[in-house]
Amino acid sequence: MVDISSKISASARIVSSADLSNLNSTQIIQPPLNNETLPKNHLAIIKNDDELTDTKETERQWATDAQIFEYGSAANPDMKPIPVFVHPAVLHENGATRIIPFDISETLDIDYPCTSPNLMASFVRITVGDDIETHAPDATSQAFYIIRGSGTTTITKGNPNDEGNHIEKEETISWNTGDMFCVPVTRTKMIHTCSSAESFGGAAIYWIHDEPLMNYLGVTPNVKKFNPTLYKKSDMLAHVEEIRHKTGDCHKKNRLGVLLGNAKCAQTKTLSHTLWSLLNSIPGETVQRPHRHNSVALDLCVSAKPGVYTLMGKEINSEGDIIDPIRCDWAAGTVFVTPPGWWHSHHNGSDDVAWVLPIQDAGLFTHQRTLDIRFVDDELKLHHAGRIRGSAFNITNNAYIKMVKQTKQQMAIDEAKNVKLITAPKRSATDTFDIKRKIIKTSV
Ligand SMILES: [Fe+2]
Repeated sequence: MVDISSKISASARIVSSADLSNLNSTQIIQPPLNNETLPKNHLAIIKNDDELTDTKETERQWATDAQIFEYGSAANPDMKPIPVFVHPAVLHENGATRIIPFDISETLDIDYPCTSPNLMASFVRITVGDDIETHAPDATSQAFYIIRGSGTTTITKGNPNDEGNHIEKEETISWNTGDMFCVPVTRTKMIHTCSSAESFGGAAIYWIHDEPLMNYLGVTPNVKKFNPTLYKKSDMLAHVEEIRHKTGDCHKKNRLGVLLGNAKCAQTKTLSHTLWSLLNSIPGETVQRPHRHNSVALDLCVSAKPGVYTLMGKEINSEGDIIDPIRCDWAAGTVFVTPPGWWHSHHNGSDDVAWVLPIQDAGLFTHQRTLDIRFVDDELKLHHAGRIRGSAFNITNNAYIKMVKQTKQQMAIDEAKNVKLITAPKRSATDTFDIKRKIIKTSV
């Protein structure tokens, strides 16, 4: 108990915590005498009369935006769906050095530039000998995939007088077609220079960052969650080859891909704590059966001959085929959006391997255990067995069974302990006899 009597003036009101909901009926209580403490369940507010009446106005203001909805009709609000849109390669294959944003914010009814609610994707075209700045100071992660060309990228020191936008060390890397790099929050500008390009007179970069997510949250990141990270094309392809030979699936595997991870994201195994990327190959004359996930995929077709396409749709039939699919034909250097939760299958009708590089907000989803990636044949098997699972998070199957077993074992242990607690106070037959004997003796 804190003695506040010395701080209370004669005209002050002392309000009981029980009265806070209706300050109009607050009673004026005489302050306690010096050296007395307040009653145990009382809360003191030391204010003058004017300030007390202000609470009503504040309550009115706070109630202005409060809305209360009927659960069933509002639980799935009517929001603009993520559309299947394409950002064609032709955009970065001609014209001057520039950034070509894939901005569909108007379609999504979002009031800041974005390609999906969390991510912004753009092409960056740099003609040979030219350079360009990119700047996403509020992104926690920026990924750059080199679609075409060779050159350098520099993270600048910025202006030393510009607080928060200055870093001590300027860093430069060189890059070639097929390389990828990812940087954490970078408040300074990045400068990209093209030295050569195999075609179209300039380099092209696929640039994705998560500034829309920060805009939505209303935050500015100030912690670098990982270090700038470079993935050379040769290293990625070497890993694909290694997997091919390790699994012995040289000729039969229809999905050979490498997930791009970061040592600072050891749990999620993702490109960054928000971003996720996969370099995925599909051999000629094969099909990758449908799968779905809760993240939005912004897929860059790295290379494909005519006859390669993706089918997408909201539902699958009992054979695992997508019902009324939208067909999206692949073209090298083109990006297309795969909406969240939609089933999608990749089809390679050509005689050559095709490559795709999806970048997604799946780092965030994986951390939340909500990515929920499902493969159609697993789901059909369960469905035919009369089961529908709630989540495909890898707690299912073996891990889930193990957890259930452990829980059951724990319950059995707890039960046994409880039984012991109940049985322990029971008296033995000897004790009971002794008590009876004592009672008899007493009564005698
Ligand atoms: Fe996918």
